[in-house]
Amino acid sequence: MRRATISDSLARSVAIDGPTASGKSVVGRALAEALTIGFFDTGLMYRACTLAVMRADVDPEDAEAVTDLVRHLDLDMRWDDPTLPQVILKGENVTGVLRTPEIEQQVSLISRIPEVRNELVRRQRTIASREPVVMAGRDIGTRVLAEARTKIFLDASAEVRARRRLGEELDSGRPSTFDQVLHATRRRDELDNSGHRAIKRDQAAEGALVIDTDALGIDQVVESALAHYRASNGA
Ligand code: DC
Repeated sequence: MRRATISDSLARSVAIDGPTASGKSVVGRALAEALTIGFFDTGLMYRACTLAVMRADVDPEDAEAVTDLVRHLDLDMRWDDPTLPQVILKGENVTGVLRTPEIEQQVSLISRIPEVRNELVRRQRTIASREPVVMAGRDIGTRVLAEARTKIFLDASAEVRARRRLGEELDSGRPSTFDQVLHATRRRDELDNSGHRAIKRDQAAEGALVIDTDALGIDQVVESALAHYRASNGA
């Protein structure tokens, strides 16, 4: 009985993958709201591990030490609002401090360590097996929720993604130029392109709906994703 509930929860969950700034969070949140389920941005977990590594003064290139720290890390996710996942590190809500330039710089080093990925995938699956979620990341359809019936891959050119990211940076009061952000976007793609992650459309999970968001508004992307969910779940 319990087993059926777990597999149903994983199967009904929605997997969203795509490169940096492809719109996974905005689309994922809107989708979660429409389906009245939770939104889970797995990038936050990798970022929280990076923060823990920095705070513990562990060398991010020392894979063994980082793995040991992550395996024993008191890291929890909490939802007061289903669309706003909160990250609790050793009892402290660190959600607001996970997008600093220092974490941006280090997170790729942490997320490329296979044993770190194994540990986080295990924790992510445990959360999705309790109740269905919309989960966003780089390995969700291919690995974390391989059995999900609805898989979506969001794609966009580096230029369009950089333009979106530049808007966010300027809104948060961080002065940047388009060229700087474009360079950082391409660099992030290179660094994230390892370890069975889906960064490019030809790496998308089998059966995933690939949406090219370059010329689409959020509403159109969400509508396509919802139609895919309904078709996959016979709803
Ligand atoms: O989506 P994001 O920018 O918050 O992700 C932060 C980093 O974590 C990025 O380098 C990619 C990595 N990541 C990953 O490897 N696998 C995931 N499922 C989610 C994020």
